[in-house]
Amino acid sequence: MVAIRRVAVVGSGTMGRQIALQVARGGFPVALYDLDSAALERAGAAQREFAARFVAAGRWGAAEAEAALGRLRPETDLGAATRDADLVIEAVPERVDLKREVFAQLDEHLPEGAIIATNSSSIRVSLLEGATARPERCANFHFYIPVWDNPMIEVGGGTRTDPAALDALDAFTRRIGMLPLRIRRESTGFIFNRVWRAIKKEVLKVADDGVASFEDIDRAWMIHYRTPKGPFGKMDEIGLDVVKAIEEVYAAESGDPADLPPPFLTERVARGDLGEKTGRGFYEYPDPAWADPRFLTPDLADVGDR
Ligand SMILES: NC(=O)c1ccc[n+]([C@@H]2O[C@H](COP(=O)([O-])OP(=O)(O)OC[C@H]3O[C@@H](n4cnc5c(N)ncnc54)[C@H](O)[C@@H]3O)[C@@H](O)[C@H]2O)c1
Repeated sequence: MVAIRRVAVVGSGTMGRQIALQVARGGFPVALYDLDSAALERAGAAQREFAARFVAAGRWGAAEAEAALGRLRPETDLGAATRDADLVIEAVPERVDLKREVFAQLDEHLPEGAIIATNSSSIRVSLLEGATARPERCANFHFYIPVWDNPMIEVGGGTRTDPAALDALDAFTRRIGMLPLRIRRESTGFIFNRVWRAIKKEVLKVADDGVASFEDIDRAWMIHYRTPKGPFGKMDEIGLDVVKAIEEVYAAESGDPADLPPPFLTERVARGDLGEKTGRGFYEYPDPAWADPRFLTPDLADVGDR
């Protein structure tokens, strides 16, 4: 089994920055690469903010937070980020062509035996592995957002993945304080994202059909499942552009136009309303209506549309 000692994360957006911080907190040196240096700067600021918040909440010790931040190394050069890595976690946008391009570049830089793991939300690694000369070292490795509140990673191989690589990923997952969930058979959306996809598709359709406001759909969900936010609040957290890209992967696979995301989602993306990251998605941030205690109270002033 390959020992994973040094890690690189490629793509420093919503997920890459969280994954890198979690891995660093687990004690591993992490290079975080992005081709956009401004994104890398935003990632660094966000990581410092996350760490400060966890220290203030008593979740992390101050020294622990400092040590984790000290293990992070931002890089704008892919070779420098990956040439000594035993594991690369790829977190670039959800497009097969782009991920294949990144897999091919990684294959050139990485030492022999290093694992290329994709954090894709829906794409089977068998669609990516052929872009490299190391399909036996390629895997799906799927985190959930926010990483620290979802301590699980779905782990699965493609057509030729060496079981030892998957075992190494399982062991690594535990080392960073998370539970590996093994994907036994390749499947678009893997395990839980398939379930979430069914929910997401239906709530978007219920709203798009004009059956109810998205706020009332979220209210029902929050009350019934006792969750702090509903599916629309969750999509805002994920990023509406990311949700759209994922839905398009499913639609491309099925070839069924009914699987394409509805205007209720795509119109927001076209306007640039991408969720928390742009300050507006379904809700407005930083103070979304769903976070107001009055959102679910039967009396008093209503918050949001009904
Ligand atoms: N957002 C979520 O909740 C979530 C959850 C689990 C998995 N994912 C998956 O993680 C991946 C990334 O999603 P995200 O939400 O972090 O996206 P994002 O758009 O927030 O970030 C993507 C980052 O990749 C960078 N990038 C683009 N092309 C690149 C390249 N060639 N090389 C290096 N960096 C490049 C961009 O500059 C950006 O910083 C996707 O596959 C997505 O499906 C997302």
